[in-house]
Amino acid sequence: MAYSIAIAGKGGTGKTTVAALSVLHFCEKNNGPVLAIDADPDANLGTILGIEVNKTIGELREDVLREIKNFPPGMDKANYVEAGLHQIIEESKGFDLLTMGRGEGSGCYCYLNSLVRKFSEDLFPSYNWIVMDNEAGLEHISRRTTNNIDALLIVVNDNPISLNTAKTIKKIASELKSKIKKEYVITNMVRDERKQEVRKRIDDLNIEYIGDIPFDTALGDAVFQGKPVITLNESIAKKSIKKILDKIGGKNGNT
Ligand SMILES: Nc1ncnc2c1ncn2[C@@H]1O[C@H](COP(=O)(O)OP(=O)(O)OP(=O)(O)O)[C@@H](O)[C@H]1O
Ligand SMILES: [Mg+2]
Repeated sequence: MAYSIAIAGKGGTGKTTVAALSVLHFCEKNNGPVLAIDADPDANLGTILGIEVNKTIGELREDVLREIKNFPPGMDKANYVEAGLHQIIEESKGFDLLTMGRGEGSGCYCYLNSLVRKFSEDLFPSYNWIVMDNEAGLEHISRRTTNNIDALLIVVNDNPISLNTAKTIKKIASELKSKIKKEYVITNMVRDERKQEVRKRIDDLNIEYIGDIPFDTALGDAVFQGKPVITLNESIAKKSIKKILDKIGGKNGNT
């Protein structure tokens, strides 16, 4: 199986940024294909990575329900979902992107969800690395994912509420022990003069701390100009992610 990381944390702490930089890091390792999964309904990982998303899994589910009466003979939901999923995967240099999109409407989705799960799972073994960006919090993770997560990276900043969120996420992750192997905490954009105090507070969380990403002006400028992170040359955020990911194992992809 691929080595799989998922990013979680309070809203605005930098989850999508960490996910995008992780995707680039694994691509630059040049060590097998990378799958980026955007599991935030308010999807923006594609934008940060410079990819136009044509369709999401949520839209595919809606298509099935709408088109089912027009299916040609011999076509069933399973064929449709399988073919649709292959079209949804956006291919880019060194990585592919799968965007989950919005959750279910009022239709009957149980069977469709199980189809999506099955066909997604069939895809995963062809990747060495999987990086999943999530919506704030973690309540959805057991619903949304089936693949196991080797490392759950919880992002915090200097807002004390982000530490409370980290604590809740850790609790939920512990309840999903069979799916999530290990949790780590990352600090992002914490001002230098607060770093020591934030580290102290993290110690109380009982989650392994693996590193800090300082505020990165080059990254901020790129985002402000609407440029994807792929355009960043060496930057402090990129270097920090590399250091972090080199610490957590999965050095060659696959577990
Ligand atoms: N290390 C950093 N240096 C500079 N800017 C950063 C850094 N990390 C994140 N940002 C900026 O902070 C903002 C929030 O980041 P991001 O969108 O990654 O957070 P998020 O946790 O994914 O938010 P949401 O909960 O809304 O999905 C963005 O404008 C991003 O460019
Ligand atoms: Mg985000």
